[in-house]
Parts: sequence; C-alpha cells; structure tokens
Amino acid sequence: MSDGISSAGPPIPPGRLPLGARSPGKCILFGEHAVVRGEPEVLFAIDLYTQIVARPAEAHRLNGSPDPVARHPYLARALAELWPDGSPLDLTVTSRLPKSAGLGSSAAFVAALSTILASVRGGLDRAELARVAYRIEQGAQGVGSPGDTTAVVAGGLLGVNAGKGEPIWAVADDGHRWEVRRLPDPGWTWVIGSSGVPRATGPAVAGVGRLFDAPGGPGRLEAFAEVARSGLDALLGEDREGVGGQMRRNQALLRAVGVSHPRLEAMIDAVAPACWGEKLTGAGAGGSIVALPRAGREMEAVRRLTRLGVPAWAVRVTAGGADTLGAGGPGPPVSGA
Ligand code: MEV
Repeated sequence: MSDGISSAGPPIPPGRLPLGARSPGKCILFGEHAVVRGEPEVLFAIDLYTQIVARPAEAHRLNGSPDPVARHPYLARALAELWPDGSPLDLTVTSRLPKSAGLGSSAAFVAALSTILASVRGGLDRAELARVAYRIEQGAQGVGSPGDTTAVVAGGLLGVNAGKGEPIWAVADDGHRWEVRRLPDPGWTWVIGSSGVPRATGPAVAGVGRLFDAPGGPGRLEAFAEVARSGLDALLGEDREGVGGQMRRNQALLRAVGVSHPRLEAMIDAVAPACWGEKLTGAGAGGSIVALPRAGREMEAVRRLTRLGVPAWAVRVTAGGADTLGAGGPGPPVSGA
C-alpha cells in the first residue's frame, strides 16, 4: 500500500531461488544531515550498482564466509524483517560502490537483499520495499533518515520534504514524516570522487545532531533548508550556475557543522576550476564529494581528482531503482551471474 500516494514504479515481482537483484547507489546534492530532522533533501540514484545473488544452502554464507549473520548487522536485520522461516542462504555480493564512502553502499546492500527476500515471499509494493529497507538500515545503524534507502529503491532524481515534483510515497518514524517526490532529471553529468577516508554515518549524524539541538540549532537547520530549496529551484530551472552556487553554500554549512575533512577540502579545491559547484556528499567526515562540471569539462574534472590519487567517476542519474535480475529485469539472467 502507498498511503494513497501514486505508485513510484513497478512492484517487486514474485520470484524463486536462486535469484539475483541489484540496487544503484545514491548521491546527495542538498540537505544531508538536516534531512534527519525532517528538512528538505535532494538526491539521486547513481549508475554504480551492488548486485546480490542468493541460492539455497546448508548454512548462511556471505561471499563464501560462514556465520555472517552475527558479524553483519544489515544482513541480520534484513533476515529478521523479511526471512522469518530462516532457511539458510548462500549470498554472493559484488559491488562497484566503495564501502563507507557516502555513496549508499549500505542502502544498496539492504535494498538488493530486501528485493530478493521480498520477491521470494511473493513480491512487494515498491513503497513498502522503501519502508522496510529504511527499517532495516535504521535498525542496523541506529540513526538516520529514509533518504538513502528511498533513493536506491525508487531510482531517479528525488526530493524529500522538498515540496516539488510528483509525490511517490511517504515514510514516517518517531514524529518525523518524509514525503518523497520524483523530480525531472535535467540529464547532466556529475562527477564523484571518493577520498578513501572511511567514515561512519552514526557518529557523524550524532555529532551534527548535537549542534542542531544546541542554541542556534534551529537557525542552522533553516539555513540548510533554505539552501536545499534554492538549489532545487535552480535544478528545476536547469540553471547550472545556480545549482553550483547552492552546492558551495551547502558545503560551507557542512564545514561549519564539522563534517568536512582536509582530504575532502583538497579534492574540492582541485576540482573547482572545472566546475560550477562542488561539495561533500553523504555523512561527510571522510567519504566522497560530488561536483557539477562545466559543460565539456567533465573528463577534466575527473582527471583533476584522479591526479590527487583518488578514484573518480562521471555519473548520471539512473532512472531505475532496486530490482530483480533475470527475465524482464534490468540485468542478465541469474544463471549467468
Ligand atoms: C547519509 O548518507 C545522509 C545523512 O543525512 C544521514 C541520513 O540521512 O540517513 C547524513
């Protein structure tokens, strides 16, 4: 069910083991951290994927390792939510998303695995998949918003509590409600660079949360919200310079709440001459940056980052969200995986 809000894409179809699924990662353009308090966020699914293949087994295995459930909270939560009979699974995970890099590797793992489990259980409405993926990620992580899981389940370019676009679903939790809307994709190329400095979402969110609760916190939250709204208006007007300017304002706010990092600042300085705007993306304190290159300078922006010795990608918004692999699905048949 989707709260009377129009459907956001095809439901997860019924399927049988062995079964594969994949999920895109995500990139946040505006509003990370403030979204945890229900403020607006703009983000999109990126064309870097996590793929999982699940087969029946004698005992649970994850990429060949035995006893993975105790060591993998996301797997444990997913099985608790969606796999009550507990029959053992042999899971093979392959991913182009760097881990702990702010690009949604946890959300993509949760979404791909939930897609498989929901499919084997008879299929699921996509809005419900987004809600269950959020419960799993939140349960394993302890903090956060539904932004990441919703982006990788929905695919495309999305606004959360941003008031513009076509409503697709809402997720509610502990006094907050996040309304998700699909936005038109201007079709631009974005550049992402990953610092290699690992970060953990929980501590970063908790630290920023303390500042939001301190005197001046409401003003900070409003500043994040205002930048996200102005950035979204510029995006809808296909105004690259305006979007870039709001990305830089957003980065200044993120710096002021202590989630930038010297490595991220060096990457930002290196890429800026080829770009309209650039900022950290995700929880920060390490992780990745996203930049909006000037037309024709996309590869120069990538090169400026790789010269620093960090991996960088030119990415686009990917329209499809998490889905099963196989006949009718987005990828090759699972037997070929
Ligand atoms: C992490 O990718 C984004 C944060 O806003 C946390 C969240 O929304 O769950 C920092």
